[in-house]
Amino acid sequence: MHIETYRSAPFVDREEEIEFFVEWFSEVPQRILWVYGPKSSGKTTVMEYVIERRLLTEKEWWIKGKYWVKYLNLRGKLITSYRSFLEALIVPEEVYEETVETNVNLTLGLISLESRKIEQVMQKKRNLFDVLFEEVERERRKGKKPILIIDEIQKLRDIYIQNGNGERELLKEFLNFCIRLTKETHLSHVVILTSNTVFIERVYNDAKMKLTSEFMKIGHLPEETVKEWLFKEGIKSEDIELVWEYLGGTIPLILKMLSKVKKGYPLREFLEREAWLAYTEIDEFLAVFNDEEVEFFREVAKEIVKKGYYSIRGLKEDKRKFLQKWAEKEILFYDPLELRITGNNRIYEKGLEIFLKGN
Ligand SMILES: Nc1ncnc2c1ncn2[C@@H]1O[C@H](COP(=O)(O)OP(=O)(O)OP(=O)(O)O)[C@@H](O)[C@H]1O
Ligand SMILES: [Mg+2]
Repeated sequence: MHIETYRSAPFVDREEEIEFFVEWFSEVPQRILWVYGPKSSGKTTVMEYVIERRLLTEKEWWIKGKYWVKYLNLRGKLITSYRSFLEALIVPEEVYEETVETNVNLTLGLISLESRKIEQVMQKKRNLFDVLFEEVERERRKGKKPILIIDEIQKLRDIYIQNGNGERELLKEFLNFCIRLTKETHLSHVVILTSNTVFIERVYNDAKMKLTSEFMKIGHLPEETVKEWLFKEGIKSEDIELVWEYLGGTIPLILKMLSKVKKGYPLREFLEREAWLAYTEIDEFLAVFNDEEVEFFREVAKEIVKKGYYSIRGLKEDKRKFLQKWAEKEILFYDPLELRITGNNRIYEKGLEIFLKGN
């Protein structure tokens, strides 16, 4: 386990995941890669690390410039229509050139097109995805290996494209485009990231998507890594156990704890307060539901606290829907592949303990 500095902050070892990606990109594109995992587990960071430190800055001369990477993060982008999606994705060549000069990273998320083509796409004379396909093909002909990465894909839900034949779902069009690039033509890798597993479930249970996809989970940090990290930070061994008990491998909470403790804040007090805050979120959301649902929630909470997870194998749809609401609220984590429910991170499981004690 090692810690390096990345974007002026400590970056804790994600060696396995990094190696997985590097290996994946070295192979011929066959399937879409879906990266999912609980909120704030570090999906975006590890992806960006791979792009910046492994794909675009390969030291070996024969690899340099091998990849054509386009990374679009929809977080923070207001996508309410097909047009706003276009504007988030595509810029005219002149603007692109200017942006490259000022901020190389920013241009990673943008595809440059001749103004004429943009106009045609805007006016729906040409299909956006056909035009994008041509761009990818062009890079491939130059000998580059194209990689398209899209983060926060769930933001494309509920957006429709108007065309001559009526309305079509933008997301469906986009996914068909991704299948065309991977499974059908092997022109480009496509990686799609999301923490919204209700969304992942829909894809996973769609026969066509399942066949053309690979799913990779990025969870919170494992126990050994966390303990080594805390040891390196100078945390005493009995405190390390306590931190693991309350925070598990949740990176942002560990970072917050380290900063507090270094300023002299008492550790136990910090941890108990975080658990209490998690409980208050649970308590508040629970108020929305009826007695029967609360009773079911208690059953789920008991299992999670006792076994570490609640199994949803064979669970009826209404109950799944209920648990999905907790997942959308980011209090529970719903894993449609492992068919398990856990806390979104460890602190919510401590919050569940408080809930069970008080009821
Ligand atoms: N390996 C790491 N070492 C240190 N800090 C990390 C690491 N991975 C992520 N972080 C930090 O943890 C926080 C959450 O990471 P990130 O945004 O990548 O998670 P995510 O899984 O993409 O979250 P979301 O579910 O919101 O998309 C960020 O502040 C990031 O800097
Ligand atoms: Mg993210």
